[in-house]
Amino acid sequence: MTKAGLPQGERGLQRRLKRDFLKKTHDFLAVCEPGFERLLADELTELFPEGEFPITTGGVSFSAPLPSMAKVNLKSRIAVRLLLRIAQCKVHSYPELFDRAKRLPWELYLGLKPACRLKISATSSRLHHTDNIAHTLKAAIAARLGSCGEGEIEIVGRVFQDTLTLSLNTSGAPLYQRGYRVLQATAPLRETTAAALLRLAGAPKIPVIFDPCCGSGTFLLEAADLVTGWPGRFRDFAYQKMSFYRNYYDKGGDVPTPHKLQLYGSDISAEVIATAAENFRRLQPAKHCTWQLQESDARKIHPPTKEAGLVISNLPYGKRLKAQEAFYRSLAQQLSLFHNWKILLLVPKAKVKWFPTLKTLLEFDNGGIRVVALGQGLPHLADRHYNNNSAP
Ligand SMILES: C[S@@+](CC[C@H](N)C(=O)[O-])C[C@H]1O[C@@H](n2cnc3c(N)ncnc32)[C@H](O)[C@@H]1O
Repeated sequence: MTKAGLPQGERGLQRRLKRDFLKKTHDFLAVCEPGFERLLADELTELFPEGEFPITTGGVSFSAPLPSMAKVNLKSRIAVRLLLRIAQCKVHSYPELFDRAKRLPWELYLGLKPACRLKISATSSRLHHTDNIAHTLKAAIAARLGSCGEGEIEIVGRVFQDTLTLSLNTSGAPLYQRGYRVLQATAPLRETTAAALLRLAGAPKIPVIFDPCCGSGTFLLEAADLVTGWPGRFRDFAYQKMSFYRNYYDKGGDVPTPHKLQLYGSDISAEVIATAAENFRRLQPAKHCTWQLQESDARKIHPPTKEAGLVISNLPYGKRLKAQEAFYRSLAQQLSLFHNWKILLLVPKAKVKWFPTLKTLLEFDNGGIRVVALGQGLPHLADRHYNNNSAP
C-alpha cells in the first residue's frame, strides 16, 4: 500500500479486489422502461428465487454478490441496463463534492489508470450544473489516481435533493441491443418492451404466436429467443472491461427450458417481411421453434392453426385518421374469429375506443407516444400473479 492507502501496482490492486471487493454483497439497480417494473421484478425472482426485489419508478433494486451482475446482464430480457452502486452521499457545494469523491475507492472500479465518461443528471438540488458536476468528479478521480482519461466505462451520477448517487453502468450499450439483429424496419419495438409484453401474455408457455403486423419481427424473434438461449449471448458487456472482471468468471449458463413453439408473422410490406426473415436467419432459433412469414393484409387474417394461441402485435400508428379507423375496425372484426385465443395489441391511447371488446392491461410510453396494451383472455398487469412479494 502507498501512503494514501492506494494499492501499489496491478498485483496490489488484485489482492485488494480479492480481499475487499469480490466477496462482498453489492447494491444494484436494474433499470427498465417505466411501467415494466413489476414484470422485471418477476423475471429477476425467477433468476434468483431467494432474492428480494423492491421496485422503484423505472427500476428494481437488489443486493447480491458480483457474479449476479454477469447473470442479470446475460439473462434479463426486460432490464435496459444494470447499474452497480458505488456511493451515495449528501453534497451541497463543489469543494464538498470534490472531497467526498476523492475518498471513494475508484481504483476498484476503474483500475489504476482510470478512463471513463460521466453521465450526470441533477434536479431539485443546490448543485445543478451537470457539466460542472462531471468536471469536479473527474478532477477528484484524477487527484486520487494521478490522471483520468476519457474512456468507454460509464459512471452514472444523479443528484436529487442534494443527494448524489454514483453508479457504474455494468451493461454498456442498452440491453435491448441483443447483438444479433442488424436489420430493422421503421418503428421497431425495443426487444426489452417486446419481452415485457410477451411475459405479460404468458410466454414462453404459449405454443402458437401470431403477429399480423410483424414488421421486422421483434415480437416473434423475442419469442423464438425465449425458447432458444439467453438474450445476452451475442454481445459483450461493459463489466468485462473493468479491473475486477478477470477475477471471477466468464459468461455462460444453462439454456432455458425448451418449449415447442410455432410462430406466424405477416405484414402488408414485402420488404419488411424480407427483413424479418433475415433477422430469423441471424438469430438461428432452436429446432423446436418453427416460423412462417408472409406478405398479407391484417384486415383479412384468420387463425393460422386449429390450436389456439396468442395474437400479439404493435399496430401501425398511422397519420390519416379515417383510413386508420377503417383499418382498426376491420382488424377488430377479423379478430372475432380468434375465439379461444389470447390477444395482446399495442395501440396509441387515443385509439383504444376502436377495440371495445378488449381490456386495458397496461399503459406506458413507447418512443414518445402514450400507448396501451389491450388484451383478450389476459389479466390486467395489477391482477397478474407475481413470483415476487415486493410487487404492491
Ligand atoms: C408499428 S409497425 C410494427 C413494427 C414491429 N413491431 C417491429 O418491431 O418491427 C406496424 C407494421 O404494420 C404494417 N402494416 C401496416 N398496414 C398493414 C396492413 N393492412 N396489414 C398488415 N400489416 C400492415 C407496417 O408495414 C408495419 O410494419
